[in-house]
Amino acid sequence: MNEIFYEVFDTMPRLGPGSAEATKKAFKATGLGSKRIEILDIGCGTGAQTLVLAKMINGKIIATDNYQPFLDTLADQASTENLSDKIICKNMDMAKLEFEENQFDLIWAEGSIYHIGFANGLRKIKSFLKPNGYAAFSDLNWFKRNHPKELAAFFANECPDMVSVEENIKLIADNGYKLIDFFRLDESVFWEPYYTPLEKRLSTMRKKYADNEEALAMFAELQLEIDLYRKYSDYYGYAFYIMKNIS
Ligand SMILES: C[S@@+](CC[C@H](N)C(=O)[O-])C[C@H]1O[C@@H](n2cnc3c(N)ncnc32)[C@H](O)[C@@H]1O
Repeated sequence: MNEIFYEVFDTMPRLGPGSAEATKKAFKATGLGSKRIEILDIGCGTGAQTLVLAKMINGKIIATDNYQPFLDTLADQASTENLSDKIICKNMDMAKLEFEENQFDLIWAEGSIYHIGFANGLRKIKSFLKPNGYAAFSDLNWFKRNHPKELAAFFANECPDMVSVEENIKLIADNGYKLIDFFRLDESVFWEPYYTPLEKRLSTMRKKYADNEEALAMFAELQLEIDLYRKYSDYYGYAFYIMKNIS
């Protein structure tokens, strides 16, 4: 089933909501600009954000994911764009990061930190971040309270640790970081680069796996996620947090 899940995503332009503009805005907020820096990108996927960052920086990015075919796609694209000298791909579980203490100027997790939880992520990366180094995470958050029942039920199952923006901001302070910048991502970053191509892909996959009940159930769950966003987009969405390591 895992293989079919990855097959849904292997031709997608990106693996989650986001945009090059949001990546650029978040990086600019760090003020790292033209300094020679080393970045760790965790849960990089096929590297939608890695490639954008690589074009903006002077230095290198260690791009990590635990699914090798995504890393292979990123390495191919980096080569096509003449960015191979700036992007080093490593297969590594974000729950078991192995780097030197104080190694990185910036640690990036775009739409991926939920795999280990936002607070856990803040704690896990801390020792690898230089004192006064930066972290940038984008995360799916509640924007409103009193969630409609069907929405609450879906996320209780799919993303049980999803919290509000206020809760994430508190977690940042509680874990020894200073919030430097914060912004919500536009609704458009869900549609054009992600849900619109995903809906098309699901329609193809339903035909291909018409006799596979388990696959059809998984496609239905992905379709439900899209339908819920269409209905309830003012209740939740992505937010970018740019933080400085202060302790
Ligand atoms: C929603 S995708 C986001 C990918 C990319 N940052 C983007 O925005 O297109 C989440 C990524 O996290 C990766 N991932 C999931 N669990 C992981 C883990 N334990 N360690 C490392 N990567 C993981 C997945 O393979 C996937 O590429």
